[in-house]
This record gives sequence, structure tokens and C-alpha cells, in this order.
Amino acid sequence: ISIIFALGVAFASPAFAQIECKLGEVVIKFSHVVPPRGHPKGDFARMLAERVNSEMNGRACMQVFPFSQLYDDEKVMEALILGDVQLAAPSLSKLEVYTNKYRLFDLPFLFEDMDAVQRFTASEQGQELLDVMSDFGVVGLGYLFDGLKHFSADKPLLVPSDGAGLKFRVQNSDVAVAMIEAMGASAQKLAFKEVYGALQLGVVDGQENSWSNIFTSRFYEVQNGITETNHQLLAYVVFAPKEWLESLEPDLQDQFLTIFRETLVKANAQAAQTSEENRQRIVDAGYTVRELAPEQRQQWVDVMRPVWGDFEDQIGKDLIAAAVAANT
Ligand code: LMR
Repeated sequence: ISIIFALGVAFASPAFAQIECKLGEVVIKFSHVVPPRGHPKGDFARMLAERVNSEMNGRACMQVFPFSQLYDDEKVMEALILGDVQLAAPSLSKLEVYTNKYRLFDLPFLFEDMDAVQRFTASEQGQELLDVMSDFGVVGLGYLFDGLKHFSADKPLLVPSDGAGLKFRVQNSDVAVAMIEAMGASAQKLAFKEVYGALQLGVVDGQENSWSNIFTSRFYEVQNGITETNHQLLAYVVFAPKEWLESLEPDLQDQFLTIFRETLVKANAQAAQTSEENRQRIVDAGYTVRELAPEQRQQWVDVMRPVWGDFEDQIGKDLIAAAVAANT
């Protein structure tokens, strides 16, 4: 209870002390939409800023803007392209206005677990996908993982037909819309910062997200329960403007990229544990988490898997096959 209370207070007042940069320092602004701690993205941004600000003090200065307080994910890519922020890590589901390639990661039941995701993203095809935003002057510096996603609603969901007729919030993703419609439900695209209020007011009946988002943004409080569907991936690419990165003095760029890579490895290594802890916190707070029996899970797969066919041509059959192969 006290943990929940403490977090509640933190959420109620997202204002926090922002580090002041000194004259002459390269300023690195990282804008994101989640809380600053207890979430794989918040933790990564914070750990990176801590190292940059201590090891590069006097030469570089990193400011983190959590909670969509600077930009939401729809706006952050524009800000990055314009060079108004230097780092952003939007969910890959939100990049469809720029590319169809990341739709791969949205295909429901594509990856069996996070080990398969790690194997695929480390492969040649996975690494090539980091570059797809280069046409927009943006470099993909690496993948950051949150976890697989789960459904929640204001009524119990055990099989997909339980969601028929309900309205679910989705990210800005046509794959997600198709997936929800396959359940006989309707989808509403909403920015992350709108989700809690929309669930609370009944503008939408349900949502689907990672344990870390469901816990740290408290969606569980305004839902009947969470159903552990593991149906889709939530992952990010950390992007930087190419022109900005290349404008850095070579030794400064090297130092930054070394710190960046080391911190990313560390953040990804702890993401699974963070996810599990956040799931447990929901259970400990007395909220319902529903696990699926194999035959129930199979119903979700059978309903959602046909969605792949709608996007196969855009994504490419070979790429899908390479991702599927990472499951074995
Ligand atoms: C969402 O909008 O649900 C997520 O993309 C938020 C996030 O960045 O994890």
C-alpha cells in the first residue's frame, strides 16, 4: 500500500528538478512519455543521464523530460527531425506515418518470448531495421525493450469473444486496429497521456500494454483485471538526429556512444525483471491478473493470427519468416 501511495504522490506531481546545463556544454534532451523510474524506458533515460552528467560534465549535459511533459510520441519524431530534441525512444507501433517496416513488430503472436525478440533484433535483418528512419535524417542507435503486452478491460476477458463490442485504446497503429477488430471490438487510437483518463471516464472500455506501463501508469486501478495474453511486443528504438550526432567532436561522440551502448545493454538486461516486478506489484495490490489456459490462449492466437495476411506485402514475407525463425 505504501509503495502505491508513494507512487501516487509522485504521479500527482510530475514536476521535478531539471538539471541546469552550463554554457559551452553540448545539451542532450531526451523526451519520453513514461515515468522516470520503475519502467525500462524511464530507467534507461535516467541511467544514461546520470552517466553523461557525471562522466562528461563540462562538455555535455543531458536533460530528461518524462511524462510527455515536453512532447508526446506523435510530436517527438518531428522534434527529433528538426533537432529540437537529441534523443527519443518512441514505441515502434507509432512510426507507421514514416515507415511500414516496423509493422513487423506489431504482428500479434509473432514472438513467443523476449528471448526470441532479442535474437531477432540482434540478427542481420534486425540490425538493418535500425536504419529505416535514415531517409528522415534520424539514426537508430539501438533497440530498447519493454516486454510483451496484455489486455485489460472493465469486464473479465478470458477469450477474445469476451471483448466483442468493447472499445479498446490502441497506439497509433493500423496493425493494432486490425487486431482489435478481429476480436469483434472497436479500436480507438489515443496518445499515451490520455489513456488513464479515457479508461477512468469510460471513453474506452479497455487497453493493451506492457506490465511496466499498466503498473507505472496505474491502468490496473480503473480496469476489472488484466489478462496475461502476451499477444504483442512493446519495444522502442532510441533515435538521434544524424546531423546532430555527426556535428559532435569525434572524441565526444565516441565517449557518448560508448556510454550509450553500455547503458542500453544494462537497461535491456534488467527489463525482464522490471516487467516481472511490475506484474507482481499489481497482484500484491490486490488487483486481478488472469492467466490463460492453453485452449483459451489458442483462441486468441486463432482470432488474431490472420491479421498477418493484411500486412504481409507491406512488411515482406522474408522479414516475417526471419522473425518467426527467431522463436526456435
Ligand atoms: C503506449 O502508448 O502505450 C506506449 O507506447 C507508451 C510507451 O512509450 O511505452
